[in-house]
Amino acid sequence: MSELATALLSENVNFKNEHPGKNNSFIEILAGLHQKQKTINPKYFYDTRGSELFERITTSPEYYPTRVERALYTQHANTMAEYCGENCVLIEPGSGSSEKVRLLLESLKPAAYVPMDIAKDFLQHSAIKLGKEFSWLNVHAVCADFGNYDEAPKGLPEGKRVIFYPGSTLGNMTPDVAKQFLRNLSTWLGHDGGILIGIDLHKSTETLTAAYNDQEGITAEFNLNALNHINTLTNSNFNVNNFSHQAFYNVELQRIEMHLESNCDHIVRLGESAIAFSEGETIHTENSYKYTQESFQALVEDAGFSVRQSWLDDQQLFSVHYLDLL
Ligand code: AVJ
Repeated sequence: MSELATALLSENVNFKNEHPGKNNSFIEILAGLHQKQKTINPKYFYDTRGSELFERITTSPEYYPTRVERALYTQHANTMAEYCGENCVLIEPGSGSSEKVRLLLESLKPAAYVPMDIAKDFLQHSAIKLGKEFSWLNVHAVCADFGNYDEAPKGLPEGKRVIFYPGSTLGNMTPDVAKQFLRNLSTWLGHDGGILIGIDLHKSTETLTAAYNDQEGITAEFNLNALNHINTLTNSNFNVNNFSHQAFYNVELQRIEMHLESNCDHIVRLGESAIAFSEGETIHTENSYKYTQESFQALVEDAGFSVRQSWLDDQQLFSVHYLDLL
């Protein structure tokens, strides 16, 4: 690790850097681009610019998930807090701007809040801002790739552990990987911990497709920005003008797929490697799985959890669940 591993950012906000570093990314990115179906892990969307673009997506008229999920927290904060218990240690993997947790903090009054994110500067900025607004809150920010993070962050206060995992972030993983991830999270929880999780629901292809193809083109910019981020991380020479945004619903697999489609035959350099693209070929950049109440319940039970309570909006667009260990 090249920089200071821990720092006090303000009176009630400390910060730990456990980011895996650029070398790991290089190997992972190259491996993905050498596959028959080229892939980029969606975590590479999130540099500072990408995190900002994602925030803009969440306010676009087509992207219903954030609006609906926020309304669920606002409406049910007190009941959700009863499930989480008093003075819990609240850990949020992929915390981004920490916007959603604000809707719960007054009801939850956690002993500590642990935002985890891969975008370091964005995380630090968001943690300081949150700590200012909630001066009574202990914030322990951790910069990490939570998908490859085997244990709970160290040095946390005592208390019941609750993992807050909103935004349907779990949907980025295939169901098998999601199960494995949930099993891994269960080791963070102790015997009495739980997970408060937001999951997007299966619905009409029209509504889903629109949410990932907003008119203003923010999602397209977000998707293309992964290439700029990779250029910075690996010294590659992707040109975003050679690619176009694609997003469609794969009904059979119940997932949105995002791709970047090459507009022409061309070669991209990445370190010592040359990656050839033919016209029309794609890089698969993201899956966003959609669940039904039944398919989600089956998934979590396979991973050793039970659904204690679920909250859905009237139109059944989005769901929030409290899970505990079976
Ligand atoms: C943050 C992964 C839940 O899948 O809907 C938004 C990311 N991608 N628009 C999602 C995203 C394109 C988002 N998640």
